[in-house]
Amino acid sequence: MSKEKFTVTAALPYANGPLHLGHVAGVYLPSDIFVRFLRMNGHDVAFICGSDEHGAAITLRAKKEGITPQEIVDKYNGIIGKAFKDFDISFDIFHRTSAEIHHETAQDFFKVLDEKGHFTKETSEQYFDEEFQQFLADRYITGTCPNCGHEEAYGDQCENCGSALSPTDLKHPKSTLSGKTPVMKSTSHWYLPMERHEDWLKSWIKEGKLDGIQQHDASKWRNQVIGQCMSWIDNGLRPRAMTRDLDWGVKVPVEGGDGKVLYVWLDAPIGYISATKQWAKDNGKKWEDYWTGDRKLVHFIGKDNIVFHAIIFPILLKAHEGFVLPDNVPAYEFLNLEGDKFSTSRNWAVWLHEYIESYPDKIDELKYTLTAIAPETKDSEFTWKEFQTRVNSELADILGNFVNRALVLTQKYYAGAVPSIGTLTEQDKEVLAEMEAIPSRISKLIYTYKLREAQAEAMNLARLGNKYLADTEPWKLVKDEANAERVQTIMNIALQITANLSIVLQPFLPSTAAKLSEFIDLKSTTWERAGKADLLASGHLTSKPSILFQKIEDELVNNEVEKLNATKQADSLFEPQKDETSFDDFMKMDIRLGTILEAEKVKKADKLLKLLVDTGLDKRTIVSGIAEHYTPEEVIGKTVSVLMNLAPRKIRGVESQGMILMAENADGELSFISPEKGFEAGSGIR
Ligand code: MF3
Ligand code: ZN
Repeated sequence: MSKEKFTVTAALPYANGPLHLGHVAGVYLPSDIFVRFLRMNGHDVAFICGSDEHGAAITLRAKKEGITPQEIVDKYNGIIGKAFKDFDISFDIFHRTSAEIHHETAQDFFKVLDEKGHFTKETSEQYFDEEFQQFLADRYITGTCPNCGHEEAYGDQCENCGSALSPTDLKHPKSTLSGKTPVMKSTSHWYLPMERHEDWLKSWIKEGKLDGIQQHDASKWRNQVIGQCMSWIDNGLRPRAMTRDLDWGVKVPVEGGDGKVLYVWLDAPIGYISATKQWAKDNGKKWEDYWTGDRKLVHFIGKDNIVFHAIIFPILLKAHEGFVLPDNVPAYEFLNLEGDKFSTSRNWAVWLHEYIESYPDKIDELKYTLTAIAPETKDSEFTWKEFQTRVNSELADILGNFVNRALVLTQKYYAGAVPSIGTLTEQDKEVLAEMEAIPSRISKLIYTYKLREAQAEAMNLARLGNKYLADTEPWKLVKDEANAERVQTIMNIALQITANLSIVLQPFLPSTAAKLSEFIDLKSTTWERAGKADLLASGHLTSKPSILFQKIEDELVNNEVEKLNATKQADSLFEPQKDETSFDDFMKMDIRLGTILEAEKVKKADKLLKLLVDTGLDKRTIVSGIAEHYTPEEVIGKTVSVLMNLAPRKIRGVESQGMILMAENADGELSFISPEKGFEAGSGIR
């Protein structure tokens, strides 16, 4: 293939939480494989990513954690960026949309579109939360998805079926701030009249043609990408608001924009451009080279991002003029975990940074497994058991075993020097022919975004080598001096296969491939050389190998599965963990020890006891719902925990001035929370 220019982007992760294996399998690993392969082939590539730091995803998380949006994005940009580095994802830049250069770029972009008349300004009625005095767009509103019935669809998209929505599409809308049904209130915004673009979009997506000129090869686009786009277009494109009434984000840079910011799905993809600018600046390049002219723009994304990358962003790029449109938008389906969806709120996840922390020397093992099960065409599933099987019976037993045999035998027979090749048998010729054919098959698969099959094809080379040694059994032949030349030939071929492995595995298992090249001292590992049978000259010195892959013990699998099951069990036995609270909020609660002085039943209320409690400060009346668990006699004299500053309320005509805190077990039994040492009433609890 001739040398081409590629700009490859990986969806900017929201800086509102850490990455889990689903993100990795469906965006970051495939894009990294693709890019490593392109680089090995000498293409001019820019690999762009960064964190998406605006929008409701961020502000809602900040509210949850009780810190500022800036603190949230700093925190998760750090965690995510470090995980990418440790996992050796080879971005040219990992940038962020809170950077000044991004705000400028996005604002300029908006101004150009505004000046060119690509927006309309409309006043309309939008959902508004009266309690919080805020308009509810995007993730501030949830409801039932009109397409798939998912009950927690967001105001701008359904993460279940991937469709892009508007708040008014939702059935049973609910504010995520107050939990209440919102009211309608009027506000004005800039809209992108997408219906103006319907005609060119259709032929561009389906046939790859723009103004009759071939732009991309639509046959390389995944069916589900074309399908989702066409169904969206066929449902009728409508104007979509490009601004929001929020204070966190890129300020609307034109008149009338006070108090408004750009819609996050307008600003985020422009983040690809601003990140490229920053990278170009840092490296003495021209960013324009990466977004104009004869350049292939490729967006790796998850399926919930399809319409934003294949419809909305292309409209924006084309309307602005001068930009290339994407050549492909390889979108991934979802990865499940041990029979269930990944879920941040239920903590049903394997977090990338935690995996790395636990298994820093098993990076390629995870890469291999995730690529082998990548959800390319349909949802797939990660299980620890499968991880173990993939590592043990594929990486260790096939790849590791083959390489180890080839190199150890070379040490033993020839003190590490590559023996010369002699007369070839039919079997040798077949093996060499297969070795030669594999790289071009891998290429074809990678250029059509079939990375799962491509990796399997690379592993086939290891299988080939493993079988070749098992069939020819040089360790038996070597016993008879008459076979010396035959053994040399076999070992030469085995070493050439090893050398080829260090090339073809490189996109998928970069650190393993690097170890291999080191063992055999192979300097040049460009793709061009793959398939050749003379990568190692006779006499060339190889070294003693170390073990490539340790087997995964059952213990690891059991521990990990148990860890997950513990979350699940905790889930079903007890209520899930509540939303995070801030230290300040916690400190607002005044909890102390109090001693129960008197107790009596509340008339006509089976559950209630009326207590007189000495709190150290005063003696007060507290009504407590413990009558089915304790008799009045039992409780008198007990020292218990009291929430002092709960607003007084009348219960059955008695004013209760506080609350007795109780523990409740899975069977619904109650127990006082009493000091383990004999502390007196009035002692504070924190
Ligand atoms: N942050 C979005 C998500 O995680 C993806 C943004 S991709 C970009 O779903 F185009 F906006 F960059
Ligand atoms: Zn849906």
